[in-house]
Amino acid sequence: MKKIVLSMLVVAALVSCGGKDKKADGDKKETVADNSANPDYEKGLALVASSDCLTCHKIDEMLTGPSYRDIANKYAGADTAIKYLAGKIIKGGNGVWGETLMTPHAALSQEDAEAMAKYILLLKK
Ligand code: HEC
Repeated sequence: MKKIVLSMLVVAALVSCGGKDKKADGDKKETVADNSANPDYEKGLALVASSDCLTCHKIDEMLTGPSYRDIANKYAGADTAIKYLAGKIIKGGNGVWGETLMTPHAALSQEDAEAMAKYILLLKK
């Protein structure tokens, strides 16, 4: 069940940011359950989908960057995770998951970056 919900979210996110994998299925969005009811989840997902994040990140698979699920599993439970990840989203960088560089997102506000971080952390399995 969780997998289906998540793959629908990926599809919805890819469609709304014009990603390459166009399995248009947007009208199923309303049936998405559990975590999507969490306002942090919805807000963060919308922000992630409207930025360039999904060109390098997928929820369940490594792409250019680590999967969001791996990130969530690594940091979930750490008090400082939201602030740390928001800082990394804004500043970019490398060295935690490998040598590939994450581009900075200097135009994002701290608040929006924290909302993205909260969404990612909610993907923990
Ligand atoms: C150009 C490709 C690229 C884009 C675009 C990108 N990322 Fe990343 N991201 C990476 C890479 C590569 C890493 C691994 C960095 C490292 O090893 O320190 C990463 C790491 C992360 C991490 C984990 C940071 C850590 O220190 O563990 C988060 C959270 C993250 N990205 C979120 C985002 C969000 C949110 C966006 C959109 C605003 C985004 N990324 C856009 C490539 C990208």
